[in-house]
Amino acid sequence: MEVLGIDIGGTGIKAAIVETKTGELISKRHRIDTPKPATPEAVAKVVKEMVSYFNWKGIVGCCFPTIVVDGKCKHPGNLSEQWVDVKIDKLFKKTCEGLPFYVSNDADLAGLAEIKLGAGKNSNGKVFVITIGTGIGAGLFYNGKLIPNVELGRIYHTDGEIIEKFAADSARKRDGLSLKQWAERFDLFLIHIKTIHTPKLFILAGGISKKFKEFKGHLTVDVPIKVAKFKNNAGIIGAALYAKKKH
Ligand code: BGC
Repeated sequence: MEVLGIDIGGTGIKAAIVETKTGELISKRHRIDTPKPATPEAVAKVVKEMVSYFNWKGIVGCCFPTIVVDGKCKHPGNLSEQWVDVKIDKLFKKTCEGLPFYVSNDADLAGLAEIKLGAGKNSNGKVFVITIGTGIGAGLFYNGKLIPNVELGRIYHTDGEIIEKFAADSARKRDGLSLKQWAERFDLFLIHIKTIHTPKLFILAGGISKKFKEFKGHLTVDVPIKVAKFKNNAGIIGAALYAKKKH
């Protein structure tokens, strides 16, 4: 089945048509900057633009970069306060002339793609799929089953500051860190997660996961680590798988 997968991120909104059996992208990816401020109205406008770009008339799966419960946003994340309590799926459906939308947290959906078809296929026990980008997202799977909205990036690091502000890729850019300096920060995050969760496996996703070979030597955490098979397309693919399952 073909589904349009849309990945709404803090800095970019990316989409492609996905064949849900294989997770293959059967169109080119299209990217539009996330509007600033990223209000519901402004983001919905970009989603509509995306749907028109692909001339899409079918079902749509959508990753959203904050806490989502039953299609409803529960936290502003790195977007806007105005999102809290918005039924995201309903808003996008209304904006896109009635197309069915299925929306969930971005890391949970990227994780779904990796666990079903990617680096976490056939894994068991506790597995974290960690997305590294503007924020740090976490999809937790136990014996292949998703436990949603785990929000590891929002653990406090110091002085009331959440850890993604210290260890996300946006922190590397903001503070002008070398890959080694950033990886040392990220390692502290992984070590902390190991202490409180003892996972069997970490799967890293997001743009910087493409550089894993260059930074893995700076990670000391004693847990096996894999790179997401679908790299930064994992969200788009997971969103499509999710929509197909829910429809
Ligand atoms: C949000 C998460 C999200 C992550 C990655 C965090 O700021 O709280 O819900 O998964 O960013 O986008």
